[in-house]
Amino acid sequence: MIQEQRIYQAYYTKSEPILNYMIDLLALKGNEYILEPCAGDGVFIDPIISTNSKVKIDAFELNTETFRNLLVKYASNASVNVKQIDTLLDIDLTFQCSMGGKYDAVIANPPYGAWRTTEERKQLKKRYNGFYAKESYSLFLYRCIEALKIGGKLVFIIPDTYLNLHRYTDIRKYILTHTKIKEIALFPSSYFPDVNFGYANLSIIALEKSQSVKKAMNNSFQMIKRFKNVEELGKNANHLSYITLNQKKLLSTNDFAFLSNHNPKISYCIEQSPLVICAIA
Ligand SMILES: C[S@@+](CC[C@H](N)C(=O)[O-])C[C@H]1O[C@@H](n2cnc3c(N)ncnc32)[C@H](O)[C@@H]1O
Repeated sequence: MIQEQRIYQAYYTKSEPILNYMIDLLALKGNEYILEPCAGDGVFIDPIISTNSKVKIDAFELNTETFRNLLVKYASNASVNVKQIDTLLDIDLTFQCSMGGKYDAVIANPPYGAWRTTEERKQLKKRYNGFYAKESYSLFLYRCIEALKIGGKLVFIIPDTYLNLHRYTDIRKYILTHTKIKEIALFPSSYFPDVNFGYANLSIIALEKSQSVKKAMNNSFQMIKRFKNVEELGKNANHLSYITLNQKKLLSTNDFAFLSNHNPKISYCIEQSPLVICAIA
């Protein structure tokens, strides 16, 4: 069981406020082709199909038992297509990505740090050249942006480590140049039921695949923090902190770090310093 948890990282999003906020961010019209790349027991799928009868959903899942449960659950629902695949390595999806993507929307809580065999890691390194392959969530993020059509929307709940750690420089560059970020909410991992990891907070990122680098560069977005409880996600409250960041400006910094410091002088010092901690460590 513990080994299974290490492989699949099956922590399900059993939180109404998180689900509502994430689905609202997709702003569905009702006829989209949607991807759930790591479906679990279908927590995102159920509320979407209950209010949008014309959407089509591809639900991918690697774990055999979880896949079988999904098959049974959606057997009588023609709008949900359940497939047992490794989303990161599936050849059909790679083909769709190489053709410019096919989905109008992607929503996910991908596995964080899912364990892979040495052989699979080699494959991932080759497929995701330049990306940090030891951590699965950023590979899912990259993969799902690739799978979107131009103008397609993505909402992910993931740790906040991609925002400023040096090892995620490549994914930040990819996001900045290929997408228009809508917003990023930052909050403690304890808001997620049964999770409280000490190494990072959680984030919910909403973005749209950009038609061009130029359009991505013109985009500004807000990082939102200082929530007092999970119910405040997606709501306005006076004590919340909104930091506006411009993608072109972020791309002009050393490490493309998304700094959410309120004091611009501190952010400037960090961004412009030629010496970074990892050079010393
Ligand atoms: C963190 S859970 C999230 C499940 C669900 N989306 C939710 O939010 O409750 C991640 C799920 O991804 C599945 N998974 C892990 N690695 C995968 C992969 N490479 N391809 C497809 N599914 C994967 C796991 O079995 C697990 O069900």
